[in-house]
Amino acid sequence: MLVLGIETSCDETGVALYDTDLGLIAHRVYSQIALHAPYGGVVPELASRDHLEKVLPLIQALLAEVQMDLSQLQGIAFTQGPGLVGALFVGAMLGRSLAMALGIPVVGVHHMEGHLLAPLLMQDAPTFPFVGLLVSGGHTQLLLATAVGDYQLLGETVDDAAGEAFDKVASMLGLPYPGGPELAELAATCVHCDWKFPRPMLDRPGLDFSFSGLKTHCRVWIERLQKQANWNASTRAQTAYAFERAVVDTLRIKCLRALEQTSVKNLVVAGGVGANQYLRQQLTTHLAMHSARVYYPPPELCTDNGAMIAFVGTLRLQAGQSIELGFNVKPRWPMESLDVL
Ligand code: KG4
Ligand code: ZN
Repeated sequence: MLVLGIETSCDETGVALYDTDLGLIAHRVYSQIALHAPYGGVVPELASRDHLEKVLPLIQALLAEVQMDLSQLQGIAFTQGPGLVGALFVGAMLGRSLAMALGIPVVGVHHMEGHLLAPLLMQDAPTFPFVGLLVSGGHTQLLLATAVGDYQLLGETVDDAAGEAFDKVASMLGLPYPGGPELAELAATCVHCDWKFPRPMLDRPGLDFSFSGLKTHCRVWIERLQKQANWNASTRAQTAYAFERAVVDTLRIKCLRALEQTSVKNLVVAGGVGANQYLRQQLTTHLAMHSARVYYPPPELCTDNGAMIAFVGTLRLQAGQSIELGFNVKPRWPMESLDVL
């Protein structure tokens, strides 16, 4: 079965072709980062308009690249939620219209399920059950995954998402949007730092996160250094370093707690912050000490992409799921409400 995946939930237009025999055939992502950068964040209306302009040419280029055409498609998967409503509508409308015109089934995919299952696209894929750490610009969640669609929420952020905190602190440091990768690069230039920023909510039991206090701590810290006329390249890099350490330590400790609590040995890290090298290195080392293993999607599939949507859509279409023609998208969509395959 050959399935076209379409992702338009936020600021990346992603398209991909997945085949049940051949695996992932090809995928393409068009990033809107440059479009939103002057505003310091995603402007929803601009995002929708840009998806509208880019998505069809991107699909045409993808098909041309692998010398295929629309008539070969046997199914379509699009991101139905969560995300920006106008942006979601672009993929939903196109996916459904194409499916109707081609007379093939279409399915709406949960964006975060896409992130969570993206590591299953690798050769050395994790098996169920596993704990999933979803860390993106909008989500910070720990889930227990026992089958495709069977997800139990173990904990989540009570305020900012980890990626959001990265982006906001990056902006305080004068780094361009989105900020997470730039902050990580700046932190890597720090030669020495013994500042210890707070590790939020570690003293409490449970698996919830909170990053808003750490963000405020960074703001007050920077203001103090500026008042003391001690704000320079070195203290700036040290602030980035101390912040990154605090976030990564918090994520690592909660992941280990979740594995212990569920007696599961596999952890899957997904979402944009999963591209963070220090997080990867810390999780790999610490989980090995507990005879556990961590899996990541390939770096290019950490951030938003159509491949993960095509893949999950294929699993769901194969299980007989599809949706009727209609206009609904789901800007908010709890993962625990998904159908188990
Ligand atoms: O999953 P994603 O591409 O989009 C959402 O669905 O939100 O995640 C984007 C988030 C942004 O906050 C970005 O700054 C963060 O992931 N991010 C990183 C890194 N690469 C991306 N944060 C820290 N370190 C990185 N290397
Ligand atoms: Zn995402």
